[in-house]
Amino acid sequence: MKGKFYIVGVGPGDPELITLKAIRILKECPTWLAPAAQKEGHSTALGIASGTIDPSEKTILKHHFPMKKVHMGKTPDPEVQAAWEKAALLINTQLENGHNVALPTLGDPAVYCTGFYVYEALLKLNPEVSIEVIPGISSIGATAAAAKTPLCLGDDRVVIIPAIFESDAIKDVLLQFESVVFMKVHKAMDRLVPLLEELNLLDSAVLVERTSMMDEQVHYDLKAIQNKKLHYFSTLIVRRTRPISI
Ligand SMILES: C[S@@+](CC[C@H](N)C(=O)[O-])C[C@H]1O[C@@H](n2cnc3c(N)ncnc32)[C@H](O)[C@@H]1O
Repeated sequence: MKGKFYIVGVGPGDPELITLKAIRILKECPTWLAPAAQKEGHSTALGIASGTIDPSEKTILKHHFPMKKVHMGKTPDPEVQAAWEKAALLINTQLENGHNVALPTLGDPAVYCTGFYVYEALLKLNPEVSIEVIPGISSIGATAAAAKTPLCLGDDRVVIIPAIFESDAIKDVLLQFESVVFMKVHKAMDRLVPLLEELNLLDSAVLVERTSMMDEQVHYDLKAIQNKKLHYFSTLIVRRTRPISI
């Protein structure tokens, strides 16, 4: 019998924020494909999973996915596409040999997760592939929790923006929607802080770096970090309806 492929959300960092189901599936899968952002680099998702489950008896296929922008609806960068296809090939070989494979992924797979590009490539190799997606706690909810703020209440509406993509629409979004979550925001604060100031929204914003990790930092004074080097794991919440309390 062929194996099954699991995309497993492992939460935002704190090993206590991984679900019981994720733990069970990761324990049961003999093979993990661990995504790494740098060549030969650390896999954050693997680190989180290993905080709860001993990986020593697993076959760990560490795989590098280059950190390049993906524009939906446009042809992906060839290096990025090749990494997805190579991952699919590695996974498919394991599945063909009857092994279940887990791809642990940071936060929740529904939010900007490489696992879904790999799944698409896998479908081309094996249209009958059996897959299950295990949801996780996203850094979005964890960031709101760290800042002790809701994302939305009553009739509030929430928008998620990947801030590495410069967009003229951001100002309109901030004016129209009650709550805006900016992800991939670590290199965008020099653009966003003046905009938030112009819209008088600085007191309605909070940025959390490395939410739920050992060295989590909650920043309310955004002018102080406007030109600071921030960690890639940074998420900004702007909640217009009710200023974020300090
Ligand atoms: C590729 S996306 C992955 C999102 C992930 N699937 C999730 O549900 O949180 C990476 C972005 O998620 C956010 N992120 C992920 N983990 C984070 C953390 N522990 N603290 C703050 N932001 C985080 C950052 O905005 C980062 O640039």
